[in-house]
Amino acid sequence: MQENELKRYEDIGNWDFSDIKYTTYQESNWNFYDEIKNHSTSSSLLLDLGTGGGEKALSFLPNVGMIIATDFSKEMIKTANENKKQFPDKNIKFVCMDNLNITFPKNLFDIVSARHTMIDAKRIYDVLKNDGYLIIEGVDKQDCWELKTLFQRGQAFHDEIAISQIDYENIKKAGFREIQVQKIIQYEYYETEEDLLALLFKTPIINDFSGIEDSSNTHSLSLEKNLFDKYVSTHTTPKGIELERVLYGIIAKK
Ligand SMILES: C[S@@+](CC[C@H](N)C(=O)[O-])C[C@H]1O[C@@H](n2cnc3c(N)ncnc32)[C@H](O)[C@@H]1O
Repeated sequence: MQENELKRYEDIGNWDFSDIKYTTYQESNWNFYDEIKNHSTSSSLLLDLGTGGGEKALSFLPNVGMIIATDFSKEMIKTANENKKQFPDKNIKFVCMDNLNITFPKNLFDIVSARHTMIDAKRIYDVLKNDGYLIIEGVDKQDCWELKTLFQRGQAFHDEIAISQIDYENIKKAGFREIQVQKIIQYEYYETEEDLLALLFKTPIINDFSGIEDSSNTHSLSLEKNLFDKYVSTHTTPKGIELERVLYGIIAKK
């Protein structure tokens, strides 16, 4: 198991961004939840991997026969069960499980969904029924590229092969067919600097970003602050501070 990753998510304990004020404009019309809806029926058994605090699963996953939503963080599952109280009619069960060690029986699920989380394509293949679908959305290497270039680090910044390409290869190798890959460009506009900072503190876009606030080394503190200020000054628009997100969607059939 990825211990550092687990600890980070245990400490955060939710994947709720509702306090951050921002708007979104997406260029392509590929939508993860619409694709899940289009590929499911009212009787489908759906597995949602790396579900976080269930914030999105509870609000956006379609009403199917049953949803099993998993996460390897006990804190996330605790939050998800709390959040579930606001959705008493949702047929969803939250289970603590590592995506890299899925222990459900083979050929069980009609759909496996995974948004912004680690996947093991072979294990997903095994737990899907024949003709079942894998639907994922991921954050690609080029995501927030200008910001990561300024900081000279960040999520996948030094990767030689883009994450979308690695996922595609692994999905193909696992035996999936009819694999469709969609690049998703999305512009986010943050209302204030505090809103953008809140995003950067919570997500791994720039690793160790907390250096801006917590570092005892005042030199690196001001250096990081300068970089952030530089980004804000060059990306402030009438709609807010712009962040270009580069995501990808993959749909594949067993
Ligand atoms: C970026 S959040 C995404 C949450 C949710 N899917 C969403 O879109 O809002 C990633 C989640 O995946 C979980 N995660 C990361 N690696 C995992 C693994 N190997 N097994 C299970 N969950 C994992 C984290 O605990 C976290 O809750």
